[in-house]
Amino acid sequence: MRQKEHNLLFLKNYLIPGIPKEPKWYYVFVYLPGATEAVPAGRLLLDEDARHGLFEYGRRYRQRSDAVPVDPVALPLGLARYECREVNRGLFGALRDALPDYWGRLVIATQMRIAVEALSDAELMLLPSATRTANLDFRPTPNAPEPVLGPPDFADLAALLAVAERIQAGEMLADPLLTSLLIQGSSLGGARPKCTVRWQGVLWIAKFPARNEDYNVPRVEYATLRLAARCGIRIPEVRLETIGGRDVLLVRRFDRQPTASGDARIGYLSALSLMQRDESERFGYPDIADRMRQQGMAGSENQAELFRRMVFNLLVRNTDDHARNHGFLFDDRRLHLSPAFDLVPTPAPGIGTEFNLALELGAQGLHASVDNALSRAAHFGLERPAAIQKMQEVAHEVGGWRERFAADGVDEATLERLRHSFTERFIEQIALL
Ligand SMILES: Nc1ncnc2c1ncn2[C@@H]1O[C@H](COP(=O)(O)OP(=O)(O)O)[C@@H](O)[C@H]1O
Ligand SMILES: [Mg+2]
Repeated sequence: MRQKEHNLLFLKNYLIPGIPKEPKWYYVFVYLPGATEAVPAGRLLLDEDARHGLFEYGRRYRQRSDAVPVDPVALPLGLARYECREVNRGLFGALRDALPDYWGRLVIATQMRIAVEALSDAELMLLPSATRTANLDFRPTPNAPEPVLGPPDFADLAALLAVAERIQAGEMLADPLLTSLLIQGSSLGGARPKCTVRWQGVLWIAKFPARNEDYNVPRVEYATLRLAARCGIRIPEVRLETIGGRDVLLVRRFDRQPTASGDARIGYLSALSLMQRDESERFGYPDIADRMRQQGMAGSENQAELFRRMVFNLLVRNTDDHARNHGFLFDDRRLHLSPAFDLVPTPAPGIGTEFNLALELGAQGLHASVDNALSRAAHFGLERPAAIQKMQEVAHEVGGWRERFAADGVDEATLERLRHSFTERFIEQIALL
């Protein structure tokens, strides 16, 4: 069995704990637009203890007529050498976006039998993976080959769900073969259990139910994404599949494009990277909208849609709307807002409770209110009447959430549980504007 042999080889060759943390050069590869094999673009010197990174483009790469920047904001092709200090542990935006977060780290740490915190960024970079976010890869030498292992298949999901469950339960002895398969699918960011799978010829992110959750989050996320689509927000293709009695959300990967020779890759930047800010810094939707304009992203599919997304998050109480839950795609040097993802209402304790979003909405900072959301409309390229009209369109659709969620199979108990997340008060205020 080929895949099995590859997995064993993978375990033997790569999962050796303790890649030294001292600064070392890593080669950054780029999948050029339309290409299914990466070329070396430059090298990165990462000093994790000093939180310092140095990136140099390769001379030959810069001379290519089809070269694209590794990161169009932090690392434009103009200069040969860039330094990154302090921000995001010394990792330039797009490079940081290409590494896993808590979930992927947990799976790898379990396999390596070490604590999640002990895992270095360098270890994550050098773990071969064909499912990394976007169009970048990291390799130990400039002539290192393509990763051999592909992502798992849809048919593997039942087994992967079981091993993901054991990993969440803190079991260190999860099945090593299955875990290495799960690792192949776990290079995306985020904290929730998930795995990239191939299904019907294309790649999807399968988002699993998490352990100890007392309601069906995958189904609620499915319904929320579909509600967002009704509000004029672009979303990826989504499906809900029941596997072994448990609902799994499948979200089609927007950073892959099937071609005759395999999956071509599309560049990606989180909003955090677009802003070139550190995870710990505070900023808001209007700041992102300003930066979008500077980067040539004015107009309805970009700035105005970001405004819709902010209003949607306000109205469904999605308080996990941080800057890595917004993203941008780039191909052939053009940046644009990616389809929306990770939209889930946060359960609210009761009617009329005050709350904050994770990103500032306007003049009153993080405070969730209709006034605050309207206060900086001009930054999104919207006159007040146009902003109000968009708000009203979103509010009208969100007002019908209960019927929509019920039609998507969300049960009565969950609807009750989420009732206070959809702030009636806001919807009423918006109708009167
Ligand atoms: N449809 C998609 N295609 C490609 N990448 C995606 C897609 N959806 C999300 N991502 C990337 O994967 C990361 C994790 O996904 P997300 O849905 O935010 O998971 P979590 O709920 O664990 O935070 C995101 O931060 C984004 O970088
Ligand atoms: Mg997320």
